[in-house]
Amino acid sequence: MKALILSGGHGTRLRPLTYSQQKQLIPVANKPVLFYAIEDVIEAGIHEIGIIVGPNKEQVMETVRSVDWDAEIEFIYQGEPKGLAHAILVARDYLGDDDFVMYLGDNILREGIVEHLKHFKEGNFDASILLQEVPNPQQFGVAELSEDGKTIRRLVEKPKVPPSNLALVGIYFFKPVIHEAVENIKPSWRNELEITDAIQWLIDHGYRVGWTKVTGWWKDTGKPEDILDANRLILDDIKTDIRIHTSARIHGRVAIGEGTVIDGNTVIKGPAVIGRNVKIMNSYIGPYTSIGDNCIIENTEIEDSIVLEGSEIRNAGRIVESLIGRGVKIINGTSHPFGRKLVIGDNSRLIL
Ligand code: TTP
Repeated sequence: MKALILSGGHGTRLRPLTYSQQKQLIPVANKPVLFYAIEDVIEAGIHEIGIIVGPNKEQVMETVRSVDWDAEIEFIYQGEPKGLAHAILVARDYLGDDDFVMYLGDNILREGIVEHLKHFKEGNFDASILLQEVPNPQQFGVAELSEDGKTIRRLVEKPKVPPSNLALVGIYFFKPVIHEAVENIKPSWRNELEITDAIQWLIDHGYRVGWTKVTGWWKDTGKPEDILDANRLILDDIKTDIRIHTSARIHGRVAIGEGTVIDGNTVIKGPAVIGRNVKIMNSYIGPYTSIGDNCIIENTEIEDSIVLEGSEIRNAGRIVESLIGRGVKIINGTSHPFGRKLVIGDNSRLIL
């Protein structure tokens, strides 16, 4: 059994953050989203992992290699992201004749994949997909089940009249017959080789596609609000882990990394994580906040937000529900002419 984790794609919905980094590297609770997928796969006993890389491949490779994983990891260059089934096509040689799990590298699944993998193996399916009940199936790929409910009869993309409220989650198990399917499908209207078409090909050719229901939460972190949501969900489960001495008032579950300095005028209310070598002065860090390494925060209130590494925020008032990139400076100017002086990247959003 192998794993194929997808870390390519353009991530257009996460611009401007994705101009300078691959979206799967954006940290949630100070850990790159991609690492949650790698951990799930290893937890399920899979130790051969292929990672699909695209436009920012060097960055992804360097970040993954910075950790000593209990797995053999290979990187497979996809080039232009031409669809999820295209990723399988370019990984053909790597996957060989093994069964594999395909895991979208921007998805987070709280319960991991152990039980789902067990179902795929025990049911002797040719493929098995994960489904989650959603209130708005019109916005997802949706599954229609067979009469006995054990297999999938049909997959429909964003249906006007949904056959069920079971949406496809970005994790799939396949036997090698999927290679025949991806070789036989045509690009869709958006010019991508769609994984739903490949799975439908299996069904239409008499192969058995099983499914399992996700019972905990699942998050696709494709948009900024999804990343903030995932951050809240992960922080809900963190444990207190404070590696420094500080006289700041700390309430609730908070993790603070080594080398961080927090003064006595600061109040921190968890759940929150603060990275290494951060300086926090006279500030309030509120619930559901993740502050990356090497940030400076002074005279500011931040709540329900993510601040990436190396950012500096001083005298900035109150910041809420924000996703702040790397090396950003938000400061309150003290010299004439007063007013807002902005140097903002393309497609940024400022709500003042
Ligand atoms: P998407 O989120 O559907 O696509 P995207 O990354 O291009 O984002 P956007 O729509 O904002 O431009 O992709 C789902 C996951 O699969 C994501 O982790 C990226 C990855 N992916 C690839 O690795 N190769 C591909 O060809 C595609 C389409 C996606």
